[in-house]
Amino acid sequence: MSMHAKITAKNLSKSFGTKKVLDNISFSVEKGESFVIMGGSGTGKSVLIKSIIGLIKPDMGSTVLIDGHDITYLPIDKRGELINKCGVLFQGGALFDSLRVWENICFTMLQQSRIDKKQARDLALKKLQLIGLDELALDLYPAELSGGMVKRVALARAIAGDPEIIFFDEPTAGLDPIMSGVISELIKSCSKQLGATTITITHDMNCASRIADKAALIHKGNFIWYGEGSKISDSGNEFVEQFVHGKPEGPITN
Ligand SMILES: Nc1ncnc2c1ncn2[C@@H]1O[C@H](COP(=O)(O)OP(=O)(O)OP(=O)(O)O)[C@@H](O)[C@H]1O
Ligand SMILES: [Mg+2]
Repeated sequence: MSMHAKITAKNLSKSFGTKKVLDNISFSVEKGESFVIMGGSGTGKSVLIKSIIGLIKPDMGSTVLIDGHDITYLPIDKRGELINKCGVLFQGGALFDSLRVWENICFTMLQQSRIDKKQARDLALKKLQLIGLDELALDLYPAELSGGMVKRVALARAIAGDPEIIFFDEPTAGLDPIMSGVISELIKSCSKQLGATTITITHDMNCASRIADKAALIHKGNFIWYGEGSKISDSGNEFVEQFVHGKPEGPITN
């Protein structure tokens, strides 16, 4: 038994002005576990990820532990080791416009001179093939990619360095159903084959059911449901029921 969870959030809160987005959320994710967070638009899912990795400073009283180390208010120059453990797929992709696809995918490793250009191109190609793209994409700039390609290249960048922890913010949004299935399987293999700890935000119920070991539904700043991934479609929780079936009427909208 491991002493620490891989990721622990305790009483995580975040307000913007008078607007409370996250309200005392606590949870932990074990090593190798795939945790899925579902929730309506604007409920704070992206803010939650950004608060964990420190892109957003959570409110006083919040605690975030990685491998048992408190990183909540670690200054940016002390975050290097943490950042190297994490891969992030940002919701909008966040690719660098002036860099080619292969340079985007291997950005961190090139930046830190961990690999040379030849190795970077080879690695980028390997990752592209995992997500159904080929070498024709290697030298393109982000502006030359379709929306779904941007998503997939951003995903390739998130997993490129085989990070211990990976955050996926809407990994299948805008992808066709087959590609969504491919990406879901890839995310699953990150945790099941590579032992990565993953947190995935998604509205895609197919993806959620496929990859989640544990899942939660966020509502009004906190988890209104937390349970086994296998229970998503059979949760017995009326909020989850409404969300999963996309019913306009129900406790979420009342
Ligand atoms: N930097 C910021 N400053 C002020 N308000 C913010 C900031 N970032 C997010 N918010 C607000 O926090 C709320 C939650 O935003 P967030 O991006 O986390 O939503 P979300 O659950 O990811 O939604 P979606 O499913 O549409 O991506 C929104 O009301 C948003 O306007
Ligand atoms: Mg979001």
